Amino acid sequence: MVEVTGSTQDDLAAGIERKTVKHGDVLVTEFQSAGRGRLDRSFEAPKNSALLFSLYIEPKCEKSEWTFIPLLAGLATSLALTKLNPEISVELKWPNDLQIQEKKVGGIIAQLAGDGLILGIGLNVGMTSEELPVESATSLNIEGFSELDRNLLLLSILDSCEELLGRWEDGEDLRHLYRERSSTLGKKVGVELPDGNTRAGIAEDISPNGELILDDGQRITVGDIVHLR
Ligand code: BTN
Repeated sequence: MVEVTGSTQDDLAAGIERKTVKHGDVLVTEFQSAGRGRLDRSFEAPKNSALLFSLYIEPKCEKSEWTFIPLLAGLATSLALTKLNPEISVELKWPNDLQIQEKKVGGIIAQLAGDGLILGIGLNVGMTSEELPVESATSLNIEGFSELDRNLLLLSILDSCEELLGRWEDGEDLRHLYRERSSTLGKKVGVELPDGNTRAGIAEDISPNGELILDDGQRITVGDIVHLR
């Protein structure tokens, strides 16, 4: 745990370089001055208002299969939150944005490092409406979530990550659990690709590698999704 830092992702990456970080290590902070999101975006949260942590894992399977792990982290977080408060449905916008009623409550970033990958999770916990970074965001507090203790949330999410990762490494196809919680599948979506090109279609399924499959067969590996209906 560090009180304040630039980014827990960068801190773990530096530790991996120095060989002081090992499989399963977690770094949590109260505030990040340079928090990073997917697709080179920033991730900001007022001090003490969000659960911000990074976890380093060295998966036991082939590297070519790791592309499903960012989705797995989203699924594990959604399942952990559902266990704590079953009445509130925390859905997954592909690949791993956490949403409550189409509003973003958290996000996940994954980066390769050392012999594994660093998963960074940011969850808006205590934020008030005035503190939200954008109008399309929400927090557990605003949604009336029953558990706002960030230590407890952290433990639940880590337990869930460990359990799901183990099951997945043992060969279990967990896509049915992901599909049940997806807010993207079945919707017409617009996709902005990293090269600036766009795609559109109905989001039909998730491949074993975590790609989003559109109704015309296109497979989206990386991109930003807009739900059109
Ligand atoms: C996203 O929504 O695009 C992903 C956000 C990920 C934010 C978390 S907060 C802890 C970790 N450290 C970072 O700099 N980013 C991740």
